[in-house]
Amino acid sequence: MKIVVLGAAAGGGLPQWNCGCVNCNDARAGRLRSSGQSSLAVSADGSRWSILNASPDIRQQMQDRPVLHPQGLRDSPVASVLVTNGDIDHIAGLLSLREQTPFDLFATAGIHEVLEGNRIFDALARDKVARCRVALDTPFALHDGLDAMLFAVPGKVPLFMEGETVDTGLIGEQTVGVRLSDGRSTAYYIPGCAHVPDDLLDRLSDADHLLFDGTLWDDDEMIRSGTGIKTGRRMGHIPISGPDGSMVRLTGLAANKTYIHINNTNPVWREDGAERAEVARQGWQVAHDGLEIVL
Ligand code: MLT
Ligand code: MN
Ligand code: ZN
Repeated sequence: MKIVVLGAAAGGGLPQWNCGCVNCNDARAGRLRSSGQSSLAVSADGSRWSILNASPDIRQQMQDRPVLHPQGLRDSPVASVLVTNGDIDHIAGLLSLREQTPFDLFATAGIHEVLEGNRIFDALARDKVARCRVALDTPFALHDGLDAMLFAVPGKVPLFMEGETVDTGLIGEQTVGVRLSDGRSTAYYIPGCAHVPDDLLDRLSDADHLLFDGTLWDDDEMIRSGTGIKTGRRMGHIPISGPDGSMVRLTGLAANKTYIHINNTNPVWREDGAERAEVARQGWQVAHDGLEIVL
């Protein structure tokens, strides 16, 4: 199995258009590697590919990866697209895939409802793009030789659908993780997760590789940096650090581990920083665009 990180950043990207934080300014100045928004490409054989989350940057992300280029006139090696929640960073790229080339679009019924509630997604022609509703905990083929299974992780409804009150520990069809298997190796992809319950830990015990939500270093990061008014948990993202953070919660896993979906404010972007050294000591790598993971 081959996994290519198309976008390592969370919604907004690095740099984000309206952000003057130190990371965004350094990325603009070329002192820090820029990053597109949250997406992976995955393949069993290196020729057919599935896109996990369609980011607003997908056109450039596909342009940057020759394996995703057409092999003929009006063609694509992309067999399918899967979305793990209905947030804009994971669905807006679907609109860039509207040009009449067939693919399967996999998501839970709950996430398909979000797409169906927004008529702009009707631009994906129904006779070309099959809307495949996937039940939780039920394996299916993303493409020949690559199986996936969706499972609920704690999360919430998409940001643009939040009401007055928000349940940030919702466990259902709105936020899912993905188990990937080619029959030899197993990888898990969980770009959004509000906390790590014990049953999730148990589930991950067969992972060869885990790609996990690295949105924020600590819960108050956006408040402290003056870039936002919400905690990470309020946004549906467990912090990396701290006693209840993902580093501590996932420390017993034998899998290789990669942080992905990283917010632009996160100090872990900085290769020479103390936070990067700390995650490395705990056995984690930090994703960047173009990172290849071969299992
Ligand atoms: C998130 O992961 O919290 C979302 O991508 C937020 C957003 O839509 O900007
Ligand atoms: Mn996101
Ligand atoms: Zn920023």
